Amino acid sequence: MTTPEPEDSLEKVAAEVRVCQKCPLARTRIKAVPGDGPGDAEALFIGEGPGMQEDRVGRPFVGPAGQFLDEMLGSVQMQRSGVFVTNVVKCRPPENRDPSPDEIAACAPYLTRQLALINPKVVVTLGKHSMSRFFSGEQISKIHGRLRNIAGQPVLPLYHPAAALHRAELRQTELNDFQQVPLALAAARTHTGLPPAEATKTDDPPPEQLSLFG
Ligand code: URA
Ligand code: SF4
Repeated sequence: MTTPEPEDSLEKVAAEVRVCQKCPLARTRIKAVPGDGPGDAEALFIGEGPGMQEDRVGRPFVGPAGQFLDEMLGSVQMQRSGVFVTNVVKCRPPENRDPSPDEIAACAPYLTRQLALINPKVVVTLGKHSMSRFFSGEQISKIHGRLRNIAGQPVLPLYHPAAALHRAELRQTELNDFQQVPLALAAARTHTGLPPAEATKTDDPPPEQLSLFG
């Protein structure tokens, strides 16, 4: 975990995102989508980028993928209002194309600040672009649904909810994987029983954490 700048806030990040011109997506967006949720959320969900509906209203996951996300949250007795949801790029890529590496890099500082400010117990990545921020050189088909500790931050990589809308056979996989979200949170709550210095000092977790996160 990184420490936020003393004067930084989620409102400040959102205000900057709404007027951001740091990459070409600024020219084609309707509204930038900073992200939504409580500042003290235990879980931070990171999607890919806004789609058509999100671009219109300026809020994340309000379209069909968002409906499936809400359904999955409901399946583990969680609510959208209790989690923070954002994206790797805050502006819609035209025709929902993949964000380019340059666009992801230009937008990354906003996500870095959100991460530092929220300091979530668990990060849940949705889809490969979000996964790649934490896991380099990995394939989502191999690591989905498996919690890992990345430099002290528990990260759970999941398929993107929209993947199930295009590939029906992924729907049950996604629902199954989602069961890991409350389990990861429960494990992380135990984990924070450690003094913060001990928990963040090293990339190599002590043995008792390995059993929880290995
Ligand atoms: N897909 C995403 O990755 N993010 C959204 O906000 C909506 C759809
Ligand atoms: Fe700025 Fe990110 Fe939007 Fe690009 S995608 S204009 S970097 S907020």
